[in-house]
Amino acid sequence: MTMQQRRVDSAKAVVATGPAGGSWSLGPLQVSRMGFGAMRLAAGAAFTDGPSRDRAASIAVLRRARELGVTHFDTAAFYFSPLRAANEMINAAFPEHDDDIVVATKVGPGRDASGHWTDPARPDQLRGQVEENLRQLGRDRLDLVYLRVFGSGSIGDLFGVLAELRTDGLIGNLGVSNVSRAQLYEAWDIAPVVSVQNRFGLDQRTPETLAVLEETTRRGIAFVPFFAMAGAAGGRGRSAETNPAVTEVANARGVSEAQIRLAWTLHQGPNVLAIPGTGDLRHLEQNVSAADIQFTHEELDALSR
Ligand SMILES: NC(=O)c1ccc[n+]([C@@H]2O[C@H](COP(=O)([O-])OP(=O)(O)OC[C@H]3O[C@@H](n4cnc5c(N)ncnc54)[C@H](OP(=O)(O)O)[C@@H]3O)[C@@H](O)[C@H]2O)c1
Repeated sequence: MTMQQRRVDSAKAVVATGPAGGSWSLGPLQVSRMGFGAMRLAAGAAFTDGPSRDRAASIAVLRRARELGVTHFDTAAFYFSPLRAANEMINAAFPEHDDDIVVATKVGPGRDASGHWTDPARPDQLRGQVEENLRQLGRDRLDLVYLRVFGSGSIGDLFGVLAELRTDGLIGNLGVSNVSRAQLYEAWDIAPVVSVQNRFGLDQRTPETLAVLEETTRRGIAFVPFFAMAGAAGGRGRSAETNPAVTEVANARGVSEAQIRLAWTLHQGPNVLAIPGTGDLRHLEQNVSAADIQFTHEELDALSR
């Protein structure tokens, strides 16, 4: 697919059948609905804990994802363990510029060189965070940058800086993450938002997040949930299944419970994308094949109850 073919009118986001769940658009960029979250590439458990993962194995996971039709990779400069960094491995996995790959990154949170979390970035620190991502990913322009928000206050000062960096050409498209509906409106008034990345999953449906999802659907932009499989365990990673409906549907279909959670995510609307995180090749292949699961109305009712 050429660069020209994958650029679509953002008002007419394209959903197609095809590998990795068909496609949707992030602004002018078309991506597979089944994407990949790079947070688990650097260390097996949460990105701050656990032994560093094998670099060659993590790069092989990224390349296999691409082979399976995944074109949407979610990352951040703060996804690193003592020995590995997600951005560096994405850069190494795809050394030649591949126009079909869209790399989305986030700014706002910060970690020092030892991995300790620092306070969320002030507006004057955002350019440095964007440039850090450019250096690590080996790019002159970032496809998509999310402002990862903390708290419920105004985000205008921070988002305004990213809008300027977009005008300067360092960023192609903007998103917001961990936002309320009011914060989405505020960002929208400053510059176009192509995607919202919030916590959402089968057991993680707050009224506020449902309202944000509804708003993204109304505006025809992407909604990208995080922790769709990890659920309540969040950063600690996926643990034993706690939802009997998930277990029942998985057993009846002969697939894994993680696959049911991912497939449920993609059933929430054509603009809802998935970015499952794994450093495990077998899990990656299961995750991509979850995009082929088509639930019956009865199954969806049981899962969504
Ligand atoms: N915007 C934000 O604030 C924010 C916050 C957190 C994450 N994120 C993004 O969202 C992405 C997804 O979140 P996440 O990685 O934390 O959680 P997730 O995708 O919901 O779940 C990942 C966990 O599930 C396991 N797993 C993956 N595939 C599996 C399978 N087929 N069967 C069983 N277990 C499986 C992983 O372990 P293995 O590695 O062993 O497979 C890991 O423990 C991240 O990678 C990151 O890009 C964004």
